[in-house]
Amino acid sequence: MLGTAIVTRVLPATADAIAAAARVLADGGLAAFPTETVYGLGADATSGEAVARLYAAKGRPIFNPLIAHVAGERDARQLAVFNDTAGRLAAAFWPGPLTLVLPKAMDCPIAVLATAGLDTIAVRVPAHAVAHALLSAFNRPVVAPSANRSGHVSPTTAAHVLADLSGRIDMVIEAGTTEVGLESTILACIDAVPTLLRPGALPRAAIENALGSRVADSYRNEEDAPAAPGMLASHYAPRAPLRLDVTDVGAGEALLAFGPDLPFGIGRATHVLNLSARGDLVEAAANLFSHLRALDRCGANAIAVMPVPEQGLGEAINDRLRRAAAPRSTR
Ligand code: TXA
Ligand code: MG
Repeated sequence: MLGTAIVTRVLPATADAIAAAARVLADGGLAAFPTETVYGLGADATSGEAVARLYAAKGRPIFNPLIAHVAGERDARQLAVFNDTAGRLAAAFWPGPLTLVLPKAMDCPIAVLATAGLDTIAVRVPAHAVAHALLSAFNRPVVAPSANRSGHVSPTTAAHVLADLSGRIDMVIEAGTTEVGLESTILACIDAVPTLLRPGALPRAAIENALGSRVADSYRNEEDAPAAPGMLASHYAPRAPLRLDVTDVGAGEALLAFGPDLPFGIGRATHVLNLSARGDLVEAAANLFSHLRALDRCGANAIAVMPVPEQGLGEAINDRLRRAAAPRSTR
């Protein structure tokens, strides 16, 4: 399947397309589909061969484990051991953009490669109707990383998926722009205090309110091996270098703006896109990856990025921007 280029079919999200994608998965192939966060690249989680194809198509290092997607909590409980906290969070936020990292169940049917040999597993129940229909039709867990080349910007449209993976995957279900635009929040519920491994589409405050207590976090420890192995310092990276927290624009730079007040030297910007002119973080999250891709295509020397406040979805937006700006040698 890989090696020689394959033709990637793009099908609008009809019942036929969902049935076709389920067949692709059953045959060990790769089908991209929308979720409420970003487009995912699906493979049969129980097939080591299918999972190996998925790593190859993305160019993903095999030490970086995948999230198993299922249609509901009952299916998730076949894969993982839920403590009380995990059960409460699943009840509060599933289906939705929360991924739980839990001890693997004894008879977990997931291919060893999918969890990169760890004794934990990441599970998620997406809320998008198309994702839900596909998971129900396939009726087996589906591993689905973001449908981009490893290390690149995550896809929020089917066109983004094709730009990265056309000729390397069997099909894409096309269903417009993903609603949230940032990946799920990843929380480990293994120890007494849950640990935030990746800030994401579900803000930390929503989790802390539901639990009535604080969560720990480990995702900022750039020096150590990342707690979520995919959280490498350089990730989400466009071709052009990023310059963060700008208060002025340099010659030849494109500007990724935020809010109504544009910085000094705005006239020098080769292109300007605003994450949210009214300073709304939900709108900014939805625009982040598509604006990064669009500014990257303009051929600017660098992308200057205005500061984004750290509250709410801003925590995840800033996390992605810092990784997109990180030196590439560590990828
Ligand atoms: O919103 C999302 O989560 C999207 C959509 C498609 O569902 N998926 C996604 O997958 O973002 P991916 O593969 O791009 O990111 C998954 C992250 C990686 O950083 C990986 O290292 C981490 O989850 N991960 C997976 N299994 C883990 C485990 N057992 N322990 C810690 N981290 C884990
Ligand atoms: Mg990803």
